[in-house]
This record gives sequence, structure tokens and C-alpha cells, in this order.
Amino acid sequence: MRNSRRGAVDPFIVMDVMEAARAAEEAGRHIIHMEVGQPGTPAPAAARKALAKAMEAGSLGYTVALGIPELRRRIARLYKDWYGVEVDPARVVVTPGSSGGFILAFTALFDAGQTVALGAPGYPSYRQILRALDLVPLEVSTAAANRYQPTPEDLAGHAFDGLLVASPANPTGTMLDHGELGALAAMARDRGAAFLSDEIYHGIDYDRRAVTALEVTDEAVVINSFSKYFSMTGWRVGWLVVPEAQIRQFERLAQNMFICAPHASQVAALAAMDAGDELEANRAAYARNRARMLDGLRAAGFDRIAPPDGAFYVYADVSELTQDSRAFAAEILDKAGVAVTPGLDFDPERGGGTLRFSYAASEADIEEGLDRLRRFMETRG
Ligand SMILES: Cc1ncc(COP(=O)(O)O)c(C=O)c1O
Repeated sequence: MRNSRRGAVDPFIVMDVMEAARAAEEAGRHIIHMEVGQPGTPAPAAARKALAKAMEAGSLGYTVALGIPELRRRIARLYKDWYGVEVDPARVVVTPGSSGGFILAFTALFDAGQTVALGAPGYPSYRQILRALDLVPLEVSTAAANRYQPTPEDLAGHAFDGLLVASPANPTGTMLDHGELGALAAMARDRGAAFLSDEIYHGIDYDRRAVTALEVTDEAVVINSFSKYFSMTGWRVGWLVVPEAQIRQFERLAQNMFICAPHASQVAALAAMDAGDELEANRAAYARNRARMLDGLRAAGFDRIAPPDGAFYVYADVSELTQDSRAFAAEILDKAGVAVTPGLDFDPERGGGTLRFSYAASEADIEEGLDRLRRFMETRG
């Protein structure tokens, strides 16, 4: 059997944790899910209603490659509403999730063998998708003192053709402010590198609003999704905002790679964008869970954390307890009945000493999970 070398990417460890949790549940155990990176809430009611109507009314065939024009216009308006930035709807590309957006963007921007810099820890699929496209991920270690976000100093001395940042980030939930984002975008521009900004957790922020790269430059490729704030993970719909000069390059690739994002999901996504009250209620529940987590994790003894500005994760340094986060996560699942994600997914070098806790689950589950973690840590001594 032939296999490509490009295809030999690492597994997504969190998926293995989910499988272990599922097996435990099948064996009759009750598991609290702090491993999953997805909202427990469904797509907004208005989205489901709009889709039901559309299913009766038409065939939901292919859409044009860049997405339904009304959805592209509505996404452009979001930039005005949230950030006060004017975006031409022509620059919006609707994609099959942000995951499809990464494939499209990496293919549009880079040639085989080129290098894309990323901060570590970071979302694991960045490096795996890059590798699968014969691109070279350059993982730059970030400092706890910088809340695990990359700085121009971290990147100095490295050669790269692209720079990808995420704010709020997965696994830490920390954000880059206007100045920090601007400095990184300027560094990329000065080197002739593409600047990509993963903004998938925008909308899920707490004390201050997340800054979009479009507030600091028109040359960025912004990646976003309906998966998180809009609570539509399985619908597989996201979007890019691309520089004006590159629209046609993205369009040609989108036509050939995907034809279009799922039509049904585009209809639902359009309606979801006007479900403000429901989405804000979800956000408020995350905010309460975040406060519970910061107290509860500390009380359990997980006190080396960078308080998250957004998203629904807490990344904890547990290196005083273990250098094998995979075994530690397995022990927590086994003894406490709480599924958590080993840091190795996010940082192959230092992740043996870290864990990611997600608080996207219900408020009752988070209470219960924290209680179990506290009791587990007490018995561990
Ligand atoms: C930082 C980040 N980017 C992108 C994705 C991919 O999301 P999707 O393909 O559902 O839009 C995820 C999923 O968890 C993520 O955490």
C-alpha cells in the first residue's frame, strides 16, 4: 500500500481522550467532560428554524464558491458592529469550518517547503495541516511571562514565510492586545511574510474585547468560524477575510477544493448571526464557568495558570506534579471521572508538564467536575 510521507501526521490526542472517556461511559461510569473544545449548547433556535424553512422551500444545492452573498454581507457587517472596521463583503470567503479555511489559506499563500511560524503552545492541527501540505511549521516557544503569546523577540532570528497567531488562543485563552498584534503584523510585513490571525474565539471574551487583525492591517488573512461563539461546531461553516488583491486566488482554489461550504449550514449561520440574546446568554454562562474554574482549580491545587481572557479553556502548569501529562490525564479520568486534555497536544516539548481544562460544559457539570478534581487531589496528597 502506498502512503504519502505528508500524510504521516500525529493523532489529535484530545480525540484519544474523548475515546477513553466514551469507553468509560459505555462501561457505566459517569464522566465529566473537561476535555472537549466545543459548546454544549445547540445552534441558536433562529438558525434551526431558518434551516427548517429552507429545507421545505428549495433544493439546497451548491452555492457560489465564496458563499451566499447575503451571508458574506452579514459577516462584513459584524466587523463594523464588533470592531468599528469597514470590510468589503467581497473580501469574505465562507469556508467548510475554519479547518477548511486553513487548508484554503495555506494553499493560497504558500508553496511547498515554505515555513510558517507559530507560537507553542498552540492549536495542534495548525502544524499537522501545514505538514500535510508539505509546509514547515516553525514552532516558537512562548513564555509564561508573556501569557504564552509570541512576541517579536521570540521570533527574531527565525526565518519564515508566514506568521500565524491566535487570540484568544487555544489552549490558554490568552489574547494579544492592539499593540501586540500590531507589532507582530508589522514584523511579518517587514519580512515579506503573510500574517494570519485565527479569531475563532472572538465573541467569547470576558474583561476586554478581542482585537481583530483588521484593526491593525488590511493585509492579514483572518480566520474565523461559526463553531464557537455561534455554537455550531458540527455544521462545518466558517469564514476568511482576505486581502483584496488575493480574492481571486482564494476563489479559484475554493471552487476546485470544496465547491462551496455546506449550503444548509450557510443558511443556518446567517440566521445565527442575529441570535444575539441567545448567544450572549451562552457567553454569560461561560463567564460564570470561568470564575468557577479559576477558584475551583486553585482550590484543588492547580494554581499555576495564566488567567484566560477568552475562549473556554484554562491551561495549567502541572510540571511540579508530573512530566507525563498523558499518564496524569489518564489517572484523572480513571480515579476522578473527569476527562482533561494532556498538554502534549499543544506543545510537544513542554506539554508533558501541562494540562488543558475546558469549561465549555454546563454550569452544573463544571461544579461537579471541580469538586471531583479537588477530592482527587486531596487523596493524591
Ligand atoms: C484555535 C482553533 N482554531 C480552529 C479550530 C477549528 O475549528 P472549526 O474547524 O470547527 O472551525 C479550533 C477547534 O477547536 C480551534 O481551537
